[in-house]
Amino acid sequence: MPRSASAAPILLMCPPTYYAISYEINPWMSLKRPVHVQRARLQWEALYRLLTQRLRAKVQLLAPHPEVPDLTFTANAGLVCGRTFIASHFRYPERQGEEPIVGRWARLAGYRVARLEPRFHFEGEGDALWVGSTLLVGFRFRSDAAAHEPLSRLVRAEVLALELADKRFYHLDTCFSPLSAHTALWYPPAFDRYGQRVLQRLIPDLIAVSERDALRFACNAIVLGRHVILQTGCSERLRRQLQQRRFSPHPVELSEFHKAGGSAKCLVLHLSSHA
Ligand code: ARG
Repeated sequence: MPRSASAAPILLMCPPTYYAISYEINPWMSLKRPVHVQRARLQWEALYRLLTQRLRAKVQLLAPHPEVPDLTFTANAGLVCGRTFIASHFRYPERQGEEPIVGRWARLAGYRVARLEPRFHFEGEGDALWVGSTLLVGFRFRSDAAAHEPLSRLVRAEVLALELADKRFYHLDTCFSPLSAHTALWYPPAFDRYGQRVLQRLIPDLIAVSERDALRFACNAIVLGRHVILQTGCSERLRRQLQQRRFSPHPVELSEFHKAGGSAKCLVLHLSSHA
């Protein structure tokens, strides 16, 4: 069932109070490139204001925690399906400390918290995105391919697994962004041949972004109805392609979050998701 288009979208965000590069678990992260704390805070606040004030989204806040610097990337907290919160189980121990914090929040927020068996890694909405009534799940670098079966039982929908092929695009949401049930942004070389064919068969209008735009995380876009929030500096061509399809691009500067391998989409989790 597609995400409800009428009600105001509800998102989960976490202020980057303790956000830092404290370890290296993807090719973007380098201990030699620390976060400029003040700049990160200002960039996150500008995104928060755009979402809540201009675009009228409702945002719930997860309290930051000093021991888990990547908690600000709430897209990885889990996947919401109606009143069920499918909790993530991170591949790297560096992020596993987020799991009990998120679990506590989800229970207090009234969700039924579901966990996959511990042998499956699953990184939430970072690797799981709906296209119409199909859930697409990226695997290899973070989530496990085998998780797609138990996931499909939990969400009671068809789940298609897509293998990721380029470690710079280690989560599905770094190289793929559904804009509607039949339109999406993608960076084709981030998928293997089979994954490319699956997407081509499922989505009639695929907008392939250039490598330059992909590296600016153009596919890590937040989509709220016809509004597409993405990193500044993406190409004029991409802007035109969005506008031709009646989407309004909203550029935001999130350079401090690129240092950890994330951009706009990674900083939010959709709570008003599939029923
Ligand atoms: N440093 C984080 C990690 O490597 C970044 C997560 C980005 N999140 C996302 N949904 N792509 O896990």
